[in-house]
Amino acid sequence: MRLLSSTTLLGLQVLLGTLSVALANSKDINDQNRLIVPQHETTSHFKDAEFPGGSSSNTSFQVTAVLNSPSPPYHAIIECWALAAPFNVYPTVGVALALGDVSNATYVVLPPRSGEGWHRPPANMYFVLLSGAAHVHAPKPNSSTGMVDKLRHGRKHAHAHEHLYIKPGWNQLIIAVDSDLRAPGHLTYYPGDTETVALQIPFFNGVIPDHVFVRPGACEGPTDDAGEHWWV
Ligand SMILES: *[C@@H]1O[C@H](CO)[C@@H](O)[C@H](O)[C@H]1NC(C)=O
Ligand SMILES: *[C@@H]1O[C@H](CO)[C@@H](O)[C@H](O)[C@H]1NC(C)=O
Ligand SMILES: *[C@@H]1O[C@H](CO)[C@@H](O)[C@H](O)[C@H]1NC(C)=O
Repeated sequence: MRLLSSTTLLGLQVLLGTLSVALANSKDINDQNRLIVPQHETTSHFKDAEFPGGSSSNTSFQVTAVLNSPSPPYHAIIECWALAAPFNVYPTVGVALALGDVSNATYVVLPPRSGEGWHRPPANMYFVLLSGAAHVHAPKPNSSTGMVDKLRHGRKHAHAHEHLYIKPGWNQLIIAVDSDLRAPGHLTYYPGDTETVALQIPFFNGVIPDHVFVRPGACEGPTDDAGEHWWV
């Protein structure tokens, strides 16, 4: 019952193959927002949503994604996306957002101070951290692609070797879609002294939810080498 007792994701629902996320409007709302809602200068959707109490909101949910670069060598890159699905009023209190159709869910327990080595996600999926911490490295690109890596959306990516830090409060729900067989995927380490527990939730038919690109790098936390003990 660790899923149900998790205090970090409130109201994660998998019903009839559709996943949604809900936020309650309680006195603890600021803590909850910090855990699953990226707060940035111009895009903090809760500043805009303010629990509209009857009307829907056009504010967005930002999610960090690990995907393949569209050009050779197709290495993994990290981007912050905003999902296209809007927040709507939840029937009791708070707001909710449909995360789209999913196919199943797997509960994963990773040992303390471990690492997976190079790997691709088993399917295009959401990865939801329940407890512990994970550190994802995008591969260090070679000189031909490292400094100027042309991304989708016509943007240039200046620092393609990036870090994604996942812990309560940072990137607790991410999208992992760097499954291109022409690249090795990414490296993941679990640096904590406790187990890391997560859910893997593949998208139905592998279809990535509609989204817009926000910026290179993770939505939350550092994107560079953060030094020691970031996970504590
Ligand atoms: C919501 O929609 C209105 C009207 O289209 C727009 O002016 C506003 O910027 C939008 N807010 C967000 C957070 O996208
Ligand atoms: C879960 O869904 C993924 C993607 O559809 C699929 O590859 C995988 O085999 C499924 N796992 C189980 C246990 O059904
Ligand atoms: C970069 O890596 C790709 C794939 O590993 C390789 O094909 C390409 O030749 C490399 N470029 C340079 C400049 O090393």
